[in-house]
Amino acid sequence: MTRFTSLSRRGFFSGAAALSGAMLLPTSSEAGGENDLTVAPSRAQLLSPPRPATPVWAFEGALPGPELRFRQGDRLKLRLRNRLEEFTTLHWHGLRVPNAMDGVAHLTQPPIAPGDNFLYEFNLPDAGTYWYHPHLGGAEQVGRGLAGALVVEEETPIRVDRDLVWMLQDWRLDPGGAIVPGFDGMHDAMHGGRIGNHVTLNGRPVPQIDLAPNERLRLRIVNAATARIFALDFGSLAPVIVALDGQPVAPHAPEGGAVLVGPGMRADIVLDATGGAGAAVAVRDLFRPDAVYDVAILRHGDTSHRASAPDWDMALSPNPVPEPDLANATRHDVVFNGGMMGQMMMGDGAAEMVEQMQQGRMWFVNGRASDGHDGLPLLTAARGSTQVIAMENRTGWWHPIHLHGHVFRVISRDGRPTTHREWRDTVLMAPEERVEIAFRADNPGDWMLHCHVLAHQSAGMATLIRVADAA
Ligand code: C2O
Ligand code: CU
Repeated sequence: MTRFTSLSRRGFFSGAAALSGAMLLPTSSEAGGENDLTVAPSRAQLLSPPRPATPVWAFEGALPGPELRFRQGDRLKLRLRNRLEEFTTLHWHGLRVPNAMDGVAHLTQPPIAPGDNFLYEFNLPDAGTYWYHPHLGGAEQVGRGLAGALVVEEETPIRVDRDLVWMLQDWRLDPGGAIVPGFDGMHDAMHGGRIGNHVTLNGRPVPQIDLAPNERLRLRIVNAATARIFALDFGSLAPVIVALDGQPVAPHAPEGGAVLVGPGMRADIVLDATGGAGAAVAVRDLFRPDAVYDVAILRHGDTSHRASAPDWDMALSPNPVPEPDLANATRHDVVFNGGMMGQMMMGDGAAEMVEQMQQGRMWFVNGRASDGHDGLPLLTAARGSTQVIAMENRTGWWHPIHLHGHVFRVISRDGRPTTHREWRDTVLMAPEERVEIAFRADNPGDWMLHCHVLAHQSAGMATLIRVADAA
């Protein structure tokens, strides 16, 4: 298990970080309180020893990347140093950053050349669980391991005994432990994306995690897989969801019992270790009922932490996100189409779409396959206006749809209002589902809207939303 040295550097890592194993980044000699994050080839022990280590790409040699911890209201100042033999960038998934800091290659910045560096610098208005990853359109860089958690701690966090990040990643490994190449293969792209054959939690397969009976954990679950959806079941334990995609939500038990997290999405849960002294509880992924497997084992110790689970308040204070003004909203219908079996569901414009499919573009947003940075916005919104996007998944596949630069409320599913009207930056659409989202377009610039199944994204399931400064 990796243990990092943890010093407390004001504004960068808090005391809680020391407990959770967050890593201290080197401070660059160029001063100004900025930190360095170096990206380079590395190796990671993804398989259990004595099986071989896997060549990966990593931040600071760590997999997953260092857990960056800040306090709400802090300013992030981080210089990415590219030691890969590829161009790269960093996207701050879920953070409401200025457009020039969004890290989308060819849209918000030129890609960073091998040997070059780029300074990311922005304020952190929202507390919550976020993550960072390169954004070059294809699935390869994330698929080779480039992902890390970014936690912004609340001014007054809810009371827990331990606050832990759980980064989930999915790998397609050959028997020798090497990553199988082919990240945007046509077969994967037409189906559910590149589903792997090996899942890790914080870089390890099925880790055993020790709990004291009746201790309370806050688990920040991050799905950094490029395609796999998780429905995490905690056996006899009763997780309570307190935040989704970093944004507080009324504390509630997961619908159907399992915590559903699609690629790119996060769920913060409060978990009390109520299994009883000595109990081992398997955390399992139930998403595919025919392929259930263990993700982690929670081992309760023998010495009780306290006599029963605590009754501390779990409600987080909301972030300063502007409320959509639904009475004065502009409404847009957006149809997602394509993929295997897509022809059957296309309706209008099917001929053009079939033609595009023959050229390897498999997925369509309102009939168009795009890389999302061709300069053709799906819609242009006046700054400050409220936008409602009524999305329809006219495919036989699941799609986690991610919007950059903003967070939105999920207001309805299949025409029925949602219970929690949750804020999100990524919404998982089931096959043939209709979902309405609403947001205040308050952040000027061109922002991607795309599927976070990365092989779908690179096969066309992307577009952009323009927020124009003047109406
Ligand atoms: Cu997590 Cu457009 O990305
Ligand atoms: Cu998709």
